[in-house]
Amino acid sequence: MLLNNIEEVKKNIKEWKKEGFKIGLVPTMGALHAGHLSLIKKAKASCDKVVVSVFVNPIQFGPSEDFDKYPRTLDADERLCNREGVDIVFAPSPKEMYGDAGRLSNDTLTYVCPPFFYVNKLCGKTRVGHFDGVCTVVLKLFNIVQPDYAFFGQKDAQQVVIVKKMAADLNVPVEIIQCPIVREESGLALSSRNKYLTDEGKKDALVLSKILNNIKTCYQKGITDVSALKETAYSFLTDKHELEYLEILDKNTLEEKLHADNNSIVLIACRVEGVRLIDNTYLGGI
Ligand code: PAF
Repeated sequence: MLLNNIEEVKKNIKEWKKEGFKIGLVPTMGALHAGHLSLIKKAKASCDKVVVSVFVNPIQFGPSEDFDKYPRTLDADERLCNREGVDIVFAPSPKEMYGDAGRLSNDTLTYVCPPFFYVNKLCGKTRVGHFDGVCTVVLKLFNIVQPDYAFFGQKDAQQVVIVKKMAADLNVPVEIIQCPIVREESGLALSSRNKYLTDEGKKDALVLSKILNNIKTCYQKGITDVSALKETAYSFLTDKHELEYLEILDKNTLEEKLHADNNSIVLIACRVEGVRLIDNTYLGGI
């Protein structure tokens, strides 16, 4: 069932809560791919009712980012959700979510601002305000859907850490379930933004997973010095790649370390054909 209206979603949720159903939420911005599908399947397997939200959230995009050209494929998204037995596809308009809050600034809208320590690094460093926008919309979705479980992909690793922190700090009664990255056979992590790449660009984009795999192999061979591990990346980069960051941090706290260990996560962001791609891997498993 496709719903655009918050009150209609809430009506269904109220009924489901009365029945004691376990509710799962898969928040998305649509353009659903096999990565989202894995989240939906996991939600279906562990919950009685599943809501997938499809909302390209304007307040998490910077003024020079791709909000206008972000792929919007609601019909196909709805078909996929129906095929998977999703109970509600919630696809509100920006007006439904934010009313007439003008140009959506924090002059007119209450924002949820996650802590600086978690935000001032990785994607948050260049995407100023991005995680305020993410936390604001995610908390709104949590309040509307009141899920027992919410499913997020590990590809946006910083997002998962920040959403977990927000839910804990604000006592939101939801369990955040983190699901593994889904990759093409080539190793390329699935992303709605891969649609912007040419075939050539997709080949060049393999540099992200190659760098991550190489660092993992070096770590497994006994190299733990973070600078030495990061150094190994440079031989993979060409003038087709614009590296934004490569970091090795604690997977739960995003703290920097001198030496990698089994709690470390390696995170990379790199532009290929002007498209900003991210990827990550755990050195010691989940
Ligand atoms: O990961 C995404 O697609 C978005 O950041 C999310 C969590 C749906 C919030 O808009």
